[in-house]
Amino acid sequence: MKPRLIKPGIHWLGAVDWNRRIFDSLMLLPDGTSYNAYLVEGEEKTALIDTVEPTMSNLLMQQLDGVHKIDYLIVQHAEQDHSGSIPIILEKYPGAMVVTSPKCKAMLKDLMTIPEDKFKLVNDGDTLPLGGRTLTFIYTPWVHWPETMVTYSPQDRILFTCDFFGSHLATTELYAVDRKRVYEGAKRYYAEIMMPFRTIIQKNLEKIKGLEMDIIAPSHGPLYDSPQTIISDYLEWVSDKAKNSVVLPYVSMHDSTARMVHYLISALVDRGVTVYPFDLVVTDPGKLAMSLVDAATIVLGTPMVLAGAHPKVVYAAFLANALRPKVKYGGIIGSFGWGGKAVEQLSSTLANLKLEMFEPVFCKGQPKEVDFQALDKLAEGIAGKHRENGLI
Ligand code: FEO
Repeated sequence: MKPRLIKPGIHWLGAVDWNRRIFDSLMLLPDGTSYNAYLVEGEEKTALIDTVEPTMSNLLMQQLDGVHKIDYLIVQHAEQDHSGSIPIILEKYPGAMVVTSPKCKAMLKDLMTIPEDKFKLVNDGDTLPLGGRTLTFIYTPWVHWPETMVTYSPQDRILFTCDFFGSHLATTELYAVDRKRVYEGAKRYYAEIMMPFRTIIQKNLEKIKGLEMDIIAPSHGPLYDSPQTIISDYLEWVSDKAKNSVVLPYVSMHDSTARMVHYLISALVDRGVTVYPFDLVVTDPGKLAMSLVDAATIVLGTPMVLAGAHPKVVYAAFLANALRPKVKYGGIIGSFGWGGKAVEQLSSTLANLKLEMFEPVFCKGQPKEVDFQALDKLAEGIAGKHRENGLI
């Protein structure tokens, strides 16, 4: 696409990656993504905020065809989907200075070759006058790397946020007009990379609270011309308050665990609890991550195989442990033929979450009446904890 006007002197540039279907070789991107860059022209100086994934740098270079000078290349985050085209930009604009934080500079030097004298370092709160408009840099660490910062233009009331508030969504819409679709993309993005840093993000949200904003301009997905919508979503996601829901990732091999899982779903629903079951054979890990953003409880369902938990369930537990959702309670259910150490394996894999665990429920062979009674007891225990916390 051609450059798109945001305000006089400010344009969206970048690349829409319609066909990308996986990020970090881990998370699925059902709706593609974009890498947004922003050209900000003052009366005296011109700045480019962020670049694009290097495989798409030709699109950015075409958009810069008529741009004769860039004085400042502002790098808010060192990850390659935003920084990867820095060398090609510096080649075209040899006079440009790379404006970034000391932490980001160190990372960039690990990732690519940039001459020492090309850096202009900025501290938290520093400003950069362009003539008629000024950029202010605000450190917002851990969204989702330690060096991340955002850039504020008070004259334009725009906050440029890189990954913060971003969404993996390829669209021709410049702004988040399709609210439901963007919400889905932004929540998925938060769940997959931001959630482990929830408590630090609370502080970052506090830090930007006082800024007067008409637009939030992230470096993935559409811009927000009603910034309060995405800020409210983030405030909810990072809050300590969980919802009345159970996430139930499971695998079944010969139907015994599946019968346990379906009985438990029904028992929880009878008690007013929402359940998100995920058969891990067909699960999109991003959907699983999204359901973990709000849930109060996680229950893992596994058959015993190879003397332990099913490897797909171990993976789900490992992922949940790494994502560090606000989930408070945990359970393990399943089936076995002759034995194994699934409970010990899964409990230790979930250790980061510091869950209050319910008594595990395992059936030998196919589930019997005594096992269904144990599942009723588990459902009652979960509903009771949710009630205690005011979630039901
Ligand atoms: Fe979009 Fe952390 O890079």
